[in-house]
Amino acid sequence: MSITIKSQSEIALMREAGRILAIVHEEMAKIIQPGVTTYQIDRVGEEVIRSYGCTPACLHYEGFPASICISINEEVVHGIPSKKRHLKEGDIVSLDTALCYKGYHSDAARTHAVGEVSPKAKRLMRITQECFYEGIRYARAGCHLNDISTAIGSYAEKNGCGVVRDLSGHGIGEQMHEDPQIANFRQLRRGPKLRAGMTLAIEPMITLGTWRVEWLDDDWTVVTQDHSLAAHYENTVLITDGDPEILSLKKE
Ligand code: MF3
Ligand code: CO
Repeated sequence: MSITIKSQSEIALMREAGRILAIVHEEMAKIIQPGVTTYQIDRVGEEVIRSYGCTPACLHYEGFPASICISINEEVVHGIPSKKRHLKEGDIVSLDTALCYKGYHSDAARTHAVGEVSPKAKRLMRITQECFYEGIRYARAGCHLNDISTAIGSYAEKNGCGVVRDLSGHGIGEQMHEDPQIANFRQLRRGPKLRAGMTLAIEPMITLGTWRVEWLDDDWTVVTQDHSLAAHYENTVLITDGDPEILSLKKE
């Protein structure tokens, strides 16, 4: 498959999908507090997704059993919501979800603090978000894909953080996962040239320790091998002839 270029009418649908996804994240963020179960967060997220006539794209994707991926502390991504899992003071929790609106997808992730968290955890969340913004400085027509990857990886490493290598960002549109794969660290090839109309899910996954991860026995939950904290920040981004447009972020 090659990288799809969206038409103006497709871009309008991607924009609406992203606008709704930003609201979904906003509503989930409101209930984050000690004691809440990850199941409850999944319920709120899925209800909001459906209330806008969208479908939860993660639900049943390759067998994933829920609508929101919820990953706590050393869990990097793809944690499975559970009635038995309660958030506790000092945790950091990553919420990652995608939805489909009239045939077009949007994908975004946020990492939240539960109550008061350690200065280290706060710094990790900040750096992870900054990695995304470093990356999208190069999300411009005429740049190459690897410019984004290199910017993300070098910013994380400069700040002494680990960059997860086994998972990456991706193109997005009619499919949740389209070409290209977007590594969060420098590649040997410069990769495809970016063009207006491409839509990319850019998603740094950053740790306070190793880049090495492993999968739990549920075959979904990805954790850091050294159990260091991990954070995830993702948005769906449109390449334009000027500045990139972050589709899954609420417009001020
Ligand atoms: N943002 C996640 C990703 O691109 C969404 C995955 S949904 C899942 O991997 F069902 F695969 F978990
Ligand atoms: Co994604």
